[in-house]
Amino acid sequence: MFDRILRAGLFLLPAAAIPIAAFAQPQAIPTPRPAEAGPAQPGAMPPPLPAGLLPWSDKSLPPDSRADLVQAQITRDEELMLVRGYFGVNYSWLPKTYSDEIRKALPGSAGYVPGIPRLGIPALRESDASLGVANGRHMRPGDTATALPSSLLTAATWNSSLAYAGGAMIGSEARNKGFNVLLAGGVDLAREPRGGRTFEYVGEDPLLAGTMAGEAIRGTQDQNIVSTIKHYALNDQETGRMTMSANISEPAMRESDLLAFEIAIEHGDPGAVMCAYNRINLIYSCENDFLLNKVLKGDWGYKGFVLSDWGAVHSTTDAANNGLDQESAFNSDKEDYFGEALQKAIVDGTVPEARLHNMTHRIVRTMFAKGLIDHPSVMKPIDANADLAVAQADAEEGIVLLKNSKALLPLSAVLRHGGRRITVIGGYADVGVLSGSGSSQVIPIGNMPDQEILTGGAVTTEPGQKPKLPNGTMIMDPPSPYAAIRSEAPRGSRVVYYDGTDIAKAAALARASDIVVVVGLQWMSEGWDVPDLSLPGNQNALIEAVAAANPQTVVVLETGGPVLMPWLDKVSAVVEAWYPGNRGANALARILFGKVNPSGRLPITFPQSESQLPRPAIPGLGMAPVQITGRDTQTPFDVTHIEGANVGYKWFAAKKLTPLFPFGYGLSYSTFAYNALSAAGGKTLSVSFEMRNTGMREGKTTAQIYATPPGGIARLVGWSKMSLKPGETRHVTLSADPRLLATFDAEAHVWQVADGNYAVTLANSATDIAATATVHIEASTINP
Ligand code: BGC
Repeated sequence: MFDRILRAGLFLLPAAAIPIAAFAQPQAIPTPRPAEAGPAQPGAMPPPLPAGLLPWSDKSLPPDSRADLVQAQITRDEELMLVRGYFGVNYSWLPKTYSDEIRKALPGSAGYVPGIPRLGIPALRESDASLGVANGRHMRPGDTATALPSSLLTAATWNSSLAYAGGAMIGSEARNKGFNVLLAGGVDLAREPRGGRTFEYVGEDPLLAGTMAGEAIRGTQDQNIVSTIKHYALNDQETGRMTMSANISEPAMRESDLLAFEIAIEHGDPGAVMCAYNRINLIYSCENDFLLNKVLKGDWGYKGFVLSDWGAVHSTTDAANNGLDQESAFNSDKEDYFGEALQKAIVDGTVPEARLHNMTHRIVRTMFAKGLIDHPSVMKPIDANADLAVAQADAEEGIVLLKNSKALLPLSAVLRHGGRRITVIGGYADVGVLSGSGSSQVIPIGNMPDQEILTGGAVTTEPGQKPKLPNGTMIMDPPSPYAAIRSEAPRGSRVVYYDGTDIAKAAALARASDIVVVVGLQWMSEGWDVPDLSLPGNQNALIEAVAAANPQTVVVLETGGPVLMPWLDKVSAVVEAWYPGNRGANALARILFGKVNPSGRLPITFPQSESQLPRPAIPGLGMAPVQITGRDTQTPFDVTHIEGANVGYKWFAAKKLTPLFPFGYGLSYSTFAYNALSAAGGKTLSVSFEMRNTGMREGKTTAQIYATPPGGIARLVGWSKMSLKPGETRHVTLSADPRLLATFDAEAHVWQVADGNYAVTLANSATDIAATATVHIEASTINP
């Protein structure tokens, strides 16, 4: 164990934001008892109605009508109860305002909102999140779940059916663990690649991110539970997340981050939207009239409810009137904003009673619409084998081959010609594959608690207290790459592992090997950003030394997002494995040995250095990460989004910068050609083209279409991922969503498609163009 702590000293990173607590498995709804304090406590309610008399029993009625029937009988106290949630764990650092009944009912997860048993309205049992049913810090001791790869890896598949399958898998595990709300759907664009939650998001492009997040949400909700979409909006860095203001013009916001949310909502129709911690143009997200009332509920006609992030509420009347429908985990906010304060605001009229009805209507209609009432979650065992297969399939398509000189990969071909000794070095590759930390942390199937890697600095001792171990924990998802490589390696191979602590020894081992696989880690977590894009500690030096000793070196990166590669010219192959989840090591080994032909494509630009980013240093860097209850200790500051809508590859194009690896890039063991591009204009853009496998192996490839409006920057407007046999040609047609061609006119409140000639490219990546065309598009407008 101490060996692990010492080795983790390489990283010296701060602990994640959410502290440890141990909690029991979900339990039954408690029997009511008199209320303890304030208006919104369960209990003191009339007894349940007999089943046949439940107001909403007629399943043929639309959700809004069934909610109306509930509301005809609901009391104000009951309404107030529905709009205020509890932290789902009784953390010692939270104010202790829980009754015994609530304490017993807590699901041991992120959140809990009591139901109304007499009206047959279930409690909301809320769990994180997009990478599996989270159980960070072992809130439910012993409870493991399938760890899906990071959402960024899923985005790298460019395969929306895998996003759907992953969402459905998590949704079914969440149901089987007794949850009915999944706090999933992270879709903030990766404006800040060092952002601690880059791995939880789906990249830098609104169409790709919106499609992938939306399909994951659709998959989850098809399991009859609610999924959120989050964090609305522009929560793109963790540094100062409780106070920072993301400042950006309305058109730029509409054309980038809001468009990603809009597209995801269209695909997935999430039951709830989680507003974010940060401010947007100086106004907190959870009391932001523009974002919540005008855009979400107004322009987009959103019918679900807005729930707050944990500790993100700052007011009663502003929040309620400006669009927040439910305060999550009220006891993590500075004050109990939707408790007695809301009751008083309704009595004195500062929050209209109709607004409270609207809040509860949105919540209750969503419970009907998403199946929570007609198909309640029931605890039962998960189907681990089926679920792990979903995770592996995702990893197999999302791992990206970045470099493969002299066709070193697949290794099976090289090893056939005599090489036999494979040395695996570093990255805890004898334990598992890295996962990201924070509220999304899954405790994976097969987790070995004694193999969790403690981080966060030295053991400390306060006078009179016992020594404290650092409390950050890196969780490695099983199996280990070492084991998976051993099982895939041809008979007669000798596979050894060395942890890489002594660089000279690693180099000596490399010299004596036929093939070296060296694993580089970049650990990311909610709550803090990585300070730069370098692999932390001495990992670059290790890779340099190993590659110098043996050029037949394959670097495997397990990173939250992009990293710099000062050793790139010296190694033969680079595989970006992201955080590949449970069975990610199997996917990796199958790619290394050629059982799977890699097909992942970057959903995010890899820069050559931080100086190429819109903000070379993270604004506010150096601020201490805070517990959510300590948010007011951070000094508010502004982050001006000078890149506007030009996030990621668009910024690189606008500034004529050459990235290390562009958005959309990824290699295969086969070769492909895209041709016969024909493009038609008119109201919008339609294209057709051919994709052909010109290599010797079956494989999948992703052709991308970018369009450049007159005077603008190229934007991804569509893609096609196809599996092709050697020599096979497939014909593809696509048409562009006109919003992707348009600019948003804030004064006229409309999308404007400009009349003119648009350049169209058929491409392998944002910078590798296979064919071009020009089309004339007519002027048009689209209502937001
Ligand atoms: C995170 C959310 C998460 C919530 C509940 C917050 O700190 O920002 O993404 O859903 O906690 O765990």
